[in-house]
Amino acid sequence: MTTTPTPADKFSFGLWTIGYTGADPFGGPTRADLDVVRAVEKLAEAGAWGLTFHDDDLFAFGSTDAERQRQIDRLKQAMADTGVVVPMITTNLFSAPVFKDGGFTSNDRAVRRYALRKVLRNIDLAAELGAETFVMWGGREGAEYDTAKDVQAALARYREAVNLLTQYVTDKGYGLRFAIEPKPNEPRGDILLPTLGHALAFIETLDRSELVGLNPEVGHEQMAGLNFTAGVAQALDAGKLFHIDLNGQRSIKYDQDLVFGHGDLQNAFSLVDLLENGGPGGGAAYDGPRHFDYKPSRTEDDAGIWESVAANMRTYLLLKERAKAFRADPEVQEALAAAKVAELGQPTLGEGEGYDQLLADRSAWEDFDADAYFHGLGFGFVRLQQLMIEHLVGARG
Ligand code: GCO
Ligand code: MN
Ligand code: MN
Repeated sequence: MTTTPTPADKFSFGLWTIGYTGADPFGGPTRADLDVVRAVEKLAEAGAWGLTFHDDDLFAFGSTDAERQRQIDRLKQAMADTGVVVPMITTNLFSAPVFKDGGFTSNDRAVRRYALRKVLRNIDLAAELGAETFVMWGGREGAEYDTAKDVQAALARYREAVNLLTQYVTDKGYGLRFAIEPKPNEPRGDILLPTLGHALAFIETLDRSELVGLNPEVGHEQMAGLNFTAGVAQALDAGKLFHIDLNGQRSIKYDQDLVFGHGDLQNAFSLVDLLENGGPGGGAAYDGPRHFDYKPSRTEDDAGIWESVAANMRTYLLLKERAKAFRADPEVQEALAAAKVAELGQPTLGEGEGYDQLLADRSAWEDFDADAYFHGLGFGFVRLQQLMIEHLVGARG
């Protein structure tokens, strides 16, 4: 296996990620703007496959039609010159002052109608560029104060918006699917659909739910103290992992958007293992884009941007290699068997068995020795985890 990225690895980067100039609430930019053509060329050189963007990343909010078209044409030319594709597009409904209370769920109805128009226009662009996924990150869809937002009404407006958009792509015959990106907070005090689980439940209430899935982000679930790999497994179980934002986050704090693996490395290992190899019991793997949504730290210069691009991909490929070695290790297989990890794949009831048979089975209750589990019959999960750590740090195979 190689740790040199190629387009076959399906690595993609947001234009806003490599284009991050370092501005934060406490200080202005530390780097110059990045032109889209240079972005595409540098990504191609680094072995990446795709570029993603918000409308406003490519042409500033309020651009004239001519300015907008000029940038689209420049991007198209760069794509043709390099082979870089645009697998995902998203709409910025959070930066401009008009969206200070959100887009789809602003209390101001005129803003909601304007937001829908902005998204519809961008969906046409997504289809034109051959994107397959349209991400919806509702960063401003939320509130700071409970008195300020009728959450049930906001969810109804969100639903109304997504229903309109899925109707639009269906009528237009676009091959686009939508992916909702949950985040618990930042920039709003509380954001609607704060976690992957909230979003999954919401999706089931939509008219064309088959067209709507998730774009979970490592750091966003971890900001809520949740286990990202476990959440992704649930998204895969639901057939809803349409896209993924990979990055690093170190515990519950502001959204760090570090390089993938520079946060919780153990969770990054289990994530790559799951995405690449599926669940150990044969559960689904993932074959969509491996999208990095990170920020090159404010401390870095231009060379540092491209170092961090390479770091994301290299860490992913190293973990992929480590995960393969982990699964192939006979001692790991033995530890997995001892820990009964595969036994969870076996149905609890026998073929055709119902409660009558279960109630008649003396071995399940009357003759079952529950006491044997006291001071005995441990699972050996710690040994298994230690084997994983040893693979992770390169101490084995
Ligand atoms: C964030 C989000 C965004 C989205 C992007 C695409 O926390 O800022 O992760 O980066 O992913 O807006 O929708
Ligand atoms: Mn983020
Ligand atoms: Mn993201």
